Amino acid sequence: KVLILDFGSQYTQLIARRVRELNIYSEIHPFNKVPSNLDDYKAVILSGSPMSVRSENAFHIDLNEVRGKKPLLGVCYGAQYLAHFHGGEVGASSTREYGRANLSYVKSNETFLDGISSGSQVWMSHSDTIKKLPTNGELLASTHDVENAAYKIKGEDTYAIQFHPEVYHSTDGKQLLENFLIKIANVNPDWTPNAFVEETVEALQEKVGGDKVVLGLSGGVDSSVAAMLLHKAIGENLYCIFVNNGLLRKDEYTQVLQQYEGMGLNVKGVDASARFMDALAGLDDPELKRKAIGRVFIEVFDDEAKEVQNVTWLAQGTIYPDVIESVSATGGPSATIKSHHNVGGLPDFMKLKIVEPLRALFKDEVRRVGASMGMAADLLGRHPFPGPGLAIRILGDITPEKVAILQEVDAVFINNLKKWDLYDKVWQAGAILLPVNSVGVMGDERTYEKCVALRAVESTDGMTADWVNLPYEFLQATSNEIINKVKGVNRVVYDISSKPPATIEWE
Ligand code: XMP
Repeated sequence: KVLILDFGSQYTQLIARRVRELNIYSEIHPFNKVPSNLDDYKAVILSGSPMSVRSENAFHIDLNEVRGKKPLLGVCYGAQYLAHFHGGEVGASSTREYGRANLSYVKSNETFLDGISSGSQVWMSHSDTIKKLPTNGELLASTHDVENAAYKIKGEDTYAIQFHPEVYHSTDGKQLLENFLIKIANVNPDWTPNAFVEETVEALQEKVGGDKVVLGLSGGVDSSVAAMLLHKAIGENLYCIFVNNGLLRKDEYTQVLQQYEGMGLNVKGVDASARFMDALAGLDDPELKRKAIGRVFIEVFDDEAKEVQNVTWLAQGTIYPDVIESVSATGGPSATIKSHHNVGGLPDFMKLKIVEPLRALFKDEVRRVGASMGMAADLLGRHPFPGPGLAIRILGDITPEKVAILQEVDAVFINNLKKWDLYDKVWQAGAILLPVNSVGVMGDERTYEKCVALRAVESTDGMTADWVNLPYEFLQATSNEIINKVKGVNRVVYDISSKPPATIEWE
């Protein structure tokens, strides 16, 4: 595996993903928490950083155990760091060094640059520049504006590049990482979805043994893939619980439950709609609604988990972005690792030992692992859906009638996205029931009915998002169908707000 030491660049996660696309497992660690088991890593990559090596607060790292002992690649800040503190010089650059550039010089007969020729496009993003190479530095490549765009240290497997190979705009970036990791560092590219499944199933068997495990299925990709891995490992000892909170999409509960049963999972469906509806009665504040739903879910799940005798483990679908400790721009690694559970919390199921088979994976890798286990494409390609479900898409208080109306509207919207082949092009979509009535006319009758908003966004992680430019013809057909089919709705609007400053959900 490969170690990526993070200095806080916004691109660090991308480095990990590009390395993994080469079928090589990589891990991100903060620069000041270098793992002690360095022998397990066959190569080390130093990330970029918002920090300047010339700043008095520059991030420092002890490379004694790495330099000259293992293949080392410095990217951007990493490259400047290796220069500045090892006999070279870094200064402010006089020309803009952001965005596209092309290599104007590429040293020949250099394994690191195999398959990369002069003219290759690279992506720059830095305000400092390397003015003088470090001791024993040898120039490997330049662009028009940046002379020292790539160099190596003679006598070591140490390489450095000023540009970012991890972004797609660096067209040969993947080739460069491949040259470094496979040709120079001799890392074996054997980390495939199938290999992951095999290894994980074995590891789970070893960890869990003959114990019983409970897992809450949500209908989403992560919990489903986690369940499938555990199912492969321990079969009937995995007890899945799928709770209907009455706030799912139309027919979702029965369909997804059937799908889970079809996969051979030992799953219990629990229809607790009434309990959730009771708890929500009269609540119109978004956070109070969320809290009520969270509380009832814990109660329901706890009751069900207790039904399983002698259970010792709780499985969760936590994925890698939730556990990466990253370095914040203001200095030092941020201490917060998101935790999906409160150790020592009240409910019994939370006192169980935790098993998280997807902790090492990015979302797209979860999907690929699911596919390699033969899971259905429609399950793996599902849009994200919030835990509180339609409750945060019904503005104001919740009633069963409002839920029923929104389920119908949502079903028309989502089905049409699928029919028009737009579903997979959208990251997340849904309908929102607004607390306004407006006047309309149907036939000769005046109507005074509900307004719904449609929302479809593009995003990669939900942190930022933009509305999708859906074709007018699609919006026209969908609006007609909603107003004609769904009783109680006479107006449809389309949400054209980006996040930030709006959010994806309306509540
Ligand atoms: P926002 O509305 O914050 O949503 O832009 C970002 C992503 O998070 C989802 N979301 C939630 N998921 N519980 C969840 O499990 C919640 O309370 C919640 N609120 C928002 C939202 O659907 C989007 O994918």
